[in-house]
Amino acid sequence: MALKITVIGTGYLGATHAAAMAELGFEVLGLDIVPEKIEMLSAGKVPMYEPGLEELLARHVAGIEGSSGRLRFTTSWEEIGEFGDVHFVCVNTPQKHGEYACDMSYVDSAFESLAPVLTRTALVVGKSTVPVGSAQRLADLLAEKAPGDVELAWNPEFLREGFAVQDTLHPDRVVVGVTSERAEKLLREVYATPVEEGSPFVVTDYPTAELVKTAANSFLATKISFINAMAEICEAADGDVVKLAEAIGHDERIGKKFLRAGVGFGGGCLPKDIRAFMARAGELGVDQALTFLREVDSINMRRRGHMVELARDAVGGDSFLGKRVAVLGATFKPDSDDVRDSPALNVAGQIHLQGGQVTVYDPKGMENARRLFPTLGYADSALEAVRSADVVLHLTEWREFRELDPAALGEVVTSRIVLDGRNALDGGKWREAGWTYRAMGRPRA
Ligand code: UDX
Repeated sequence: MALKITVIGTGYLGATHAAAMAELGFEVLGLDIVPEKIEMLSAGKVPMYEPGLEELLARHVAGIEGSSGRLRFTTSWEEIGEFGDVHFVCVNTPQKHGEYACDMSYVDSAFESLAPVLTRTALVVGKSTVPVGSAQRLADLLAEKAPGDVELAWNPEFLREGFAVQDTLHPDRVVVGVTSERAEKLLREVYATPVEEGSPFVVTDYPTAELVKTAANSFLATKISFINAMAEICEAADGDVVKLAEAIGHDERIGKKFLRAGVGFGGGCLPKDIRAFMARAGELGVDQALTFLREVDSINMRRRGHMVELARDAVGGDSFLGKRVAVLGATFKPDSDDVRDSPALNVAGQIHLQGGQVTVYDPKGMENARRLFPTLGYADSALEAVRSADVVLHLTEWREFRELDPAALGEVVTSRIVLDGRNALDGGKWREAGWTYRAMGRPRA
């Protein structure tokens, strides 16, 4: 009999995990406490933009013509308890208001609701990013409150937004923190297909599994801030950070990836994960071990301020009053509609608050951006956003922006000045069309 799997929490992580588990051949029941999300998912609709996810859902959601019928959704905890052999907890752990630590209330309440309905033998698997030590605490909670024979495993998720489906079906590695062979065996069964295809399967204890996730994200954030620090030096010394990144990247120990300088990292993971990690290190009495992450965070936030300065310079130097600023990009990265801690919106917001008239356009993030920052101006296309602009800022590297025709845009702007905050546009092409093209960490041409 195929394993029956439940997925608790249907955000970017949970919705993708549920669909991927169905794709791997399991019977899956997803739960969310927000009924509207469940209604949408049950109709095969994804409440956010994630390439390939809607197609994957359509292939499996029960009731959709031609689907496998292996994937269903519910709001009932009792149904979850009766159904599942393996329960994946995929709820989010945002940053606490006014603190660095992460907010565990969603995880805690998911475990509080789940434990009493676990009447059967089951494995609960935590996937959320949590402070080290949480798994043991949650295992104790299950031991106390679950009536059935229930165990906990920790299995961090490394998916990237925009590549969530691919990363879930073909993970770089599967990491499991377990306390028994039975739990390891069950998880080997769940991940048999990707492991057969070559994904390494790393078995460890709870704290190490929890730490792998925060360590990986800290490393990635550090890599980005490193190259952005080099961009600051390049700006002062007239060097070219793009060439520099290419050159150091040839050293395989360094590698080329995650060395794109620009307005820095944002999103729902890297910024809050490094802060939560610092907070947890403090609680453990080893805050010095992670003080370097404070610098990583500062370098990153400085890039946003630097982009605002470059834009102010471009419109005359003194202030943004009476100036029109076009912002291309609102999401924290391309191929996502996520605007959480987005450098693009942050820059747009700062300029707006300094009196600039900002118009934002993004291919997928408009709805979320409007909700988060309703006082900014929005346009329905890049061409509309740049109309009469005194400066154009490129802040999220969507393919649509790389393919823009600078000559056509040049016809409608007030000044042909473009600032590339992602080092992703073809500067030569823009200059040929009569634009002043400036990029972060690169010499003025
Ligand atoms: C990240 C991790 O990559 C993933 O493994 C983890 O599970 C969740 O957090 P994600 O937040 O989806 O994933 O985005 P990622 O692709 O890592 O990009 C994060 C931010 O860094 C984006 O704002 C991106 O624009 C920025 N970035 C990335 C750079 O500024 N330069 C780079 O070279 C790479």
